[in-house]
Amino acid sequence: MSLVTTKDMFKKAYEGGYAIGAFNVNNMEIIQGITDAAIEEKAPLILQVSSGARKYAKHVYLMKLIEAAIEDAKNQGVDLPIAVHLDHGDTFELCKSCIDGGFTSVMIDGSHHSFEDNIKLTKQVVEYAHAKGVTVEGELGQLAGIEDDVNVADHAFTEPDQVEEFVSKTGVDSLAIAIGTSHGAFKFKPGQKPQLRFDILEEVTKRLPGFPIVLHGASSVIPEFVQMVNQYGGQMPDAIGIPEEMLRQAAKSAVCKINIDSDLRLAMTATVRKHFAENPGHFDPRQYLTPARSAIKDMVKRKLTNVLGCSGKI
Ligand code: G3H
Ligand code: 13P
Ligand code: ZN
Repeated sequence: MSLVTTKDMFKKAYEGGYAIGAFNVNNMEIIQGITDAAIEEKAPLILQVSSGARKYAKHVYLMKLIEAAIEDAKNQGVDLPIAVHLDHGDTFELCKSCIDGGFTSVMIDGSHHSFEDNIKLTKQVVEYAHAKGVTVEGELGQLAGIEDDVNVADHAFTEPDQVEEFVSKTGVDSLAIAIGTSHGAFKFKPGQKPQLRFDILEEVTKRLPGFPIVLHGASSVIPEFVQMVNQYGGQMPDAIGIPEEMLRQAAKSAVCKINIDSDLRLAMTATVRKHFAENPGHFDPRQYLTPARSAIKDMVKRKLTNVLGCSGKI
């Protein structure tokens, strides 16, 4: 198996009532933890790279690491379908560079522009991407939270009345919508009841039957890891994510891709903090990165089985 696009994955996920996990990657241990989980669970995967991650690790390193993961899976007898996806591409040039460099899917996030400009930019990326056999995700509506350097204070929920025009004019393959999820580890205020606008998702689905929907900002901000971070010297009081039942409900619907980054960060950081607290003399990175990688693997395995429903779907 070589790299795949999201086309076939989304078709099967839509029909099968499950979602594909789209996990953000930026180093070897994260890639290994996620792919080891997917190999054991026989789950298709999207590995996504933000522009910040691409700057940090460099395009070529990430591509080679992901290719190595596919080969490693094959050596274990598993044909692991992986789509390599640009997360939150903000310019045509960035999308083009990722497509030219072998990514099989890109997101063009024109959600900060006017509706007309978003259509124009997204269409330009779709034309280039489709000519090279690459799939494209667009976005309508804005999530609260932090994406690279952009801090969006409030949600601007997706307007269902815009989705048909956006999809038909741009030709995108999937659409990210804003229904109350947000980026980062602080998605709700303490005491606030977590809520998602499933009514908007339903309206969007009515207007776009059979069309794959994407949820960003969908980490659960797993309480055990938040507690571990705080116990071992971190300061993340009030970190709150999307309850797993809500994600399960979304995964059964038209939502075919669920984005997860913060839970990976938390699993890794909590485990490293605990390791140092218990082993203050350790200074070989392999000593603390080994349990950190295992924590990612265990966390991802749980998500694939209990939340996304994509275990055994290769
Ligand atoms: O949506 C944002 C992702 O969590 C990526 O975050 O831009 O800090 O790599 P990053
Ligand atoms: P989280 O911050 O909830 O993990 O969301 C990640 C994301 O949407 C990446 O695009
Ligand atoms: Zn996102």
